[in-house]
Amino acid sequence: MINNLKLKKWVQEWADWFQPESVYWCNGSEAENQRLLDEMVACGMGVKLNEAKRPNSYYFQSDPSDVARVEDRTFICSKTKEGAGPTNNWADPAEMKQTMRELYKGCMKGRTMYVIPFSMGPLGSNIAHIGVEITDSPYVVANMRIMTRMGDKVLDILGETGDFVPCVHSIGAPLAPGQKDVKWPCAPIEKKYITHFPETHEIWSYGSGYGGNALLGKKCLALRIASIMAKEQGWMAEHMLIMGLTNPKGEKKYIAAAFPSACGKTNLAMLIPTLPGWKVECVGDDIAWMKFGADGQLYAINPEAGFFGVAPFTSMETNPNAMLSCRANTIFTNVGLTPDGDVWWEGIGTECPPGTLNWKNKVYDPASGEPCAHPNARFTAPACQCPAIDKDWENPVGVPISAFLFGGRRPNTVPLVHESKSWNHGVFMGSVAGSEVTAAAIGLKAGVRRDPFAMLPFCGYNMGDYFGHWINIGKRAGAKLPKIFYVNWFRKDENGKFLWPGYGENSRVLAYIFDRCDGKGESVDTPIGKVPAVKSINIKGLAGMDEAKMAKVLAVSNDEWKAEVALIEEHYARFGSHLPKELSAELAGLKERLGM
Ligand code: GTP
Ligand code: SPV
Ligand code: MN
Repeated sequence: MINNLKLKKWVQEWADWFQPESVYWCNGSEAENQRLLDEMVACGMGVKLNEAKRPNSYYFQSDPSDVARVEDRTFICSKTKEGAGPTNNWADPAEMKQTMRELYKGCMKGRTMYVIPFSMGPLGSNIAHIGVEITDSPYVVANMRIMTRMGDKVLDILGETGDFVPCVHSIGAPLAPGQKDVKWPCAPIEKKYITHFPETHEIWSYGSGYGGNALLGKKCLALRIASIMAKEQGWMAEHMLIMGLTNPKGEKKYIAAAFPSACGKTNLAMLIPTLPGWKVECVGDDIAWMKFGADGQLYAINPEAGFFGVAPFTSMETNPNAMLSCRANTIFTNVGLTPDGDVWWEGIGTECPPGTLNWKNKVYDPASGEPCAHPNARFTAPACQCPAIDKDWENPVGVPISAFLFGGRRPNTVPLVHESKSWNHGVFMGSVAGSEVTAAAIGLKAGVRRDPFAMLPFCGYNMGDYFGHWINIGKRAGAKLPKIFYVNWFRKDENGKFLWPGYGENSRVLAYIFDRCDGKGESVDTPIGKVPAVKSINIKGLAGMDEAKMAKVLAVSNDEWKAEVALIEEHYARFGSHLPKELSAELAGLKERLGM
């Protein structure tokens, strides 16, 4: 029984506009899920994988125009351009709604319109929020069932008067009577729109069926709209993994870390420490929602229920917990398909069986120079299947956060780890974070770009005001603020080789951070902050590493940082009067320490 009046009315209005063949309310049941998957296999959109090798798992290939987020088709339609700020695409909300209404008119003809009630966060948590997505993609429904808590139980919580974030989605590919469907229907790139209306907390998406463009609970709701709600209401919505870290004495701390897309959140969230006696447990691998508790601690929940993880280079060697998370009940998109009905991708750790189909459904030819899996190929897997899942990952109260990490891919300049001198200095570090771009979004120019707090594509309002929100968090009376660190696993030597082995070996850096939170571990002051003394990162048993190499990994070069300052000044200039004065002061302090 649907007894929420606002919801009923909203669904009816869109059904009238979209003109689908039928409207279906998703209940979230196993039977419903199986029926949708069977239908997708029957019509040739999906492939059921070999039950013996990959139980209850399915395989999809997307259209080549629809393989990742599309940042230049993503809009923040605030009333004013200033509201969206210099880092977002802005469009006038009324004009955008008119454009999209035209596209939306009759766009579900010949298709089913699905209504997906979902909760971001454990059901009933006071940090959680409810959304409802309307979509014409059964693939989206099946993915949302893994990525969120979905179905009847959400309607129960919504009740007659509960509020929800309305999320409208269409793949933008109506079917004429008798028209044969294609494998992955979507609209051409110039007709794709991923649109947010900050004042009314609405999401409208058109033309894409892939990832964050279409699974609207994730980046659209849990980051872009949630970042606005968080600013309005005094909490935090961040592009951060959440992990529990236990030392050999059995003491445990939780850490949240913001790295840009495809820069190692999933890997760090579930890593297996190489340092004896240490343990990492995973609360979430992509998004953190955080509120202060009455005790002044910041508590974090993972709003998601699954992992939408990068497949290429995930292996039993690099990330066994991710490999085990997707051993069953998983949806794979744009990886390779082996002749025996399993999946394959670059760096999976086995030879590619001859006859494997690439993500474009052609027999993979290693000599072609083209990869078998798309670099942004992904698995959608239930978080509860992760062997390292934290016992409190669904605790509605959240977990207390002791430290924030920022990071990205920096081949030079940025040391393996450094620590902020204060909260505001830490906010400065987050605000100037940068990274080499990755395949997680289409059409970006190669090279390093500023990606403050890893939120560049995900902040739903003026990024300068978002910096201000971070500064304000630090002014909160009685707050026990997390310590702030900046890490870089991706520094390279003069031959372009990574200086640091990464992955499980990152536990050595985590151990240092853990100790710093307890006021232990030795650091040295540098112009950019506190850098570990060379001996204070434990490299015992780490092949190929010695103190001389550690000195390189940890080096802070004044010349490199002087060049960096020029880039930071360029970056900061974009924010004009929205840049908090505390951050201008931090930049001035850095310049002074560099002797500039
Ligand atoms: P999104 O899901 O897009 O937000 O990405 P993510 O931040 O979760 O990135 P993920 O953990 O999936 O890693 C992306 C890529 O970085 C993979 O190809 C990893 O193999 C690689 N990677 C992760 N951690 C490390 C590391 O410590 N060192 C090196 N060299 N590569 C890493
Ligand atoms: C990212 O790009 O940061 C992702 C994948 O986590 S997507 O859901 O497509 O945004
Ligand atoms: Mn992400």
